[in-house]
Amino acid sequence: MANAEHLDLIRRDLDTWNRLREADPGMVPDLSQSDLSKADLALANLSGALLNDANLVLANLRGADLRAADLTGANLVGARLLGVDLVGANLSGADLSTAEDLTQEDIDQTLGDERTALPEGLQKPPHWLGIRKVNLKAAFAKFSDHWQPRIVGDLHGVQVKIVKLLGEFVWHQHDDEDELFLVVKGQLLMRFRDREIRVDEGEFLIVPRGVEHQSVAERECEVLLVEPGTTVNTGNVRDERTVLQPERLD
Ligand code: NI
Repeated sequence: MANAEHLDLIRRDLDTWNRLREADPGMVPDLSQSDLSKADLALANLSGALLNDANLVLANLRGADLRAADLTGANLVGARLLGVDLVGANLSGADLSTAEDLTQEDIDQTLGDERTALPEGLQKPPHWLGIRKVNLKAAFAKFSDHWQPRIVGDLHGVQVKIVKLLGEFVWHQHDDEDELFLVVKGQLLMRFRDREIRVDEGEFLIVPRGVEHQSVAERECEVLLVEPGTTVNTGNVRDERTVLQPERLD
């Protein structure tokens, strides 16, 4: 719950608020779960503030200092955000679906999930979608190593990756992730403990979570993977081919 004094002061007298923050840098403003809808918070010093689950609908936050602020679950629909400083802020689950003033760069400076680099559950505005087409032939031409997946797209926490396979991979399973293998070129043999399935060019196969599998490619095979961003290529196994943070291809 918000600190009533903090809430009252920031609503009533922003100049005094900012002076107070300057005089007492150790103070941690607690505005969590507060209703600050339509509040004029332009140029407010809110660095390190607790704003989790705050209602900031239509608030004016232009030029506000939100460095390292906790904005977890905050509703920022319609908020004015031009020039805000979000370095190190936590935006997990925040609703920024109408944040026309923000750029992807502003968000890149916030705390992100270490694998997806985006705050978890963030409602992104459509203009960040970075719509582009990917030419698979050109993308595969950018690398020649095997078993090293590259990220080529993101959708709803799921990643599209491409990888070249040659030889036998390690037996592994993914406890929480389903994995789609689409063969773009060549032939993939997917071994399970009770059978094996050949996947030809233009075919795909989905390995459900919890099922042990081993990819085998007698000749080099190009595969497109669709799987949650948390998926590690070797699943529950760690070996020299484990890639915790795949490279992204532009
Ligand atoms: Ni796998």
